[in-house]
Amino acid sequence: MGLSIIKKLYDKISANYNPADQFGSISKTHEIALNQFLSEDISNKESLNIVDLGVGDAGFLKKISDKCNNINCIGVDISSGMLRAAQKKIKMRAIHDSAANVHKHLGAKTQDFIISHFICAYVPTKILLEQANRLLDVGGCYSLATTTYSSFPKLREQIENLFSRKSLFAKLVSSFYQSVSKKTSVAADHASLNEDVIHSGFEVVQYKQIQLPVYFNNLEELCIFGSDGTWFLNCLHYKYLPGKLIRMVIKKFLSWIYTFPLEDHHCIEIMLVKKL
Ligand SMILES: C[S@@+](CC[C@H](N)C(=O)[O-])C[C@H]1O[C@@H](n2cnc3c(N)ncnc32)[C@H](O)[C@@H]1O
Repeated sequence: MGLSIIKKLYDKISANYNPADQFGSISKTHEIALNQFLSEDISNKESLNIVDLGVGDAGFLKKISDKCNNINCIGVDISSGMLRAAQKKIKMRAIHDSAANVHKHLGAKTQDFIISHFICAYVPTKILLEQANRLLDVGGCYSLATTTYSSFPKLREQIENLFSRKSLFAKLVSSFYQSVSKKTSVAADHASLNEDVIHSGFEVVQYKQIQLPVYFNNLEELCIFGSDGTWFLNCLHYKYLPGKLIRMVIKKFLSWIYTFPLEDHHCIEIMLVKKL
């Protein structure tokens, strides 16, 4: 999915970002990441330079600013709508660009604490780690939170069952699913995330994995979670087809394979790492 599509989607979502936290995925993650940060010496520094890559509505920066004085916040986001929402919450310098381009705006070793929560689906983890490594001096901290492919096993299992079928429809769906999966850059699991972190010159100082139950009474609820809730945004647009058509086809297809109510879980990795 191209940058301009994601940007447009998030500009729209910025009017109401609440559905993303329907099952506590965001608030629970922020609470754990905040406690990880507060238990490190860095949080006691007299003055802290903080950059949030994919800042969204600055929910996490707000939590930090409620606990720490003397912080200088910078929020980076491709969505101007999200940056406006963030600036309503806290005093922050806004950088309207991709997190992958942050080196064009900020000098090396100028920051104390970097954050990237829930943007690995849009910017590969290795690029985020490279950017964080460049911005931090030795001993600087980085809070990384991401969904992994261990999430939503029941939803995935139903789709993957189709792969063995021989119908044209099953083949089309399988090839669409595989192409989206290949392009989505979230980590497969904890082990692969850990490996990327260590190879990028960081040590893991704190780590927690959470599995949040999710529950859908009907197809409409599942679709709202995926689109307005943002968790399956990357599946809902494909460069050759209009988003509305994709959504219609996906909805029809989901109504064939799922029976409701449906229970599953959202798997989230929350890490605090330190630059070596
Ligand atoms: C799921 S939201 C997470 C927001 C926030 N980090 C949080 O924890 O609530 C993803 C955010 O990343 C932004 N985003 C997507 N692609 C991006 C990119 N390439 N560079 C910077 N921000 C991006 C979106 O506009 C959106 O604000």
